Amino acid sequence: MPTINKSTTKIAPSLLAADFTRLGEEVDRVIAAGADMLHFDIMDGEFVPNFGISPLSIAALRDRTEIPFDVHIMVTHPFRYIDALADVGSDMITFHIESDDEPYAVISAIKAHNIKAGIAFSPKTKCDEVLPFLADIDLVLPMSVEPGFGGQSFIPDTLNKIEQLHQFINKLENSPDISVDGGVTPEIGPIAAQKGATILVAGTAIFRSEHPKDAIDQLRSIDTSI
Ligand code: DX5
Ligand code: ZN
Repeated sequence: MPTINKSTTKIAPSLLAADFTRLGEEVDRVIAAGADMLHFDIMDGEFVPNFGISPLSIAALRDRTEIPFDVHIMVTHPFRYIDALADVGSDMITFHIESDDEPYAVISAIKAHNIKAGIAFSPKTKCDEVLPFLADIDLVLPMSVEPGFGGQSFIPDTLNKIEQLHQFINKLENSPDISVDGGVTPEIGPIAAQKGATILVAGTAIFRSEHPKDAIDQLRSIDTSI
């Protein structure tokens, strides 16, 4: 039997998999289960072929809890979204390196609101594209599925990317979080954490579980047999 200990990895349930007929209760349920932050997916129907959560929902939930809000924007023009998302109470905003806006301009716009800035990148994008920005951001997010939809399977090559990012970050003065998003299951989460991920985003694995506390505890576990 492997020994199971608790890691310091932060767990971010992704609201995309929640029951939207009772969003407030869903949030209460995952906070009671031990979530460290909440992950919101904003989409524009252009950068990805889907629509996500509205800033209106974020504003409504902001009145309910003080837990950090981790906002992931899958949009072609991130710059246009920053002020509105900061105003509704985002604690961190993560945009895609593949978007059309100049990365440093977006990073500055986010930081001007005194909130954290992150960069996400899609499975086909190499780590090299984001390395130049790591010294200036708070979070890097290698997507482990094609962005746009929950419920997909984890792409194993993401583990190599996490390892590469972790090695690069070790040489920096700042230590941006490494977040991983898409298909993260209670089995894969601890492996990703062992490779260097510090935030695990999980939608289906948490919200579609009858026992979200067990799912979160397993995601946070350290399997010493690995
Ligand atoms: C996908 C989103 C994810 C998604 C994860 O584009 O960015 O946050 O909700 O959902 P699961 O964990 O179901 O893959
Ligand atoms: Zn996401």
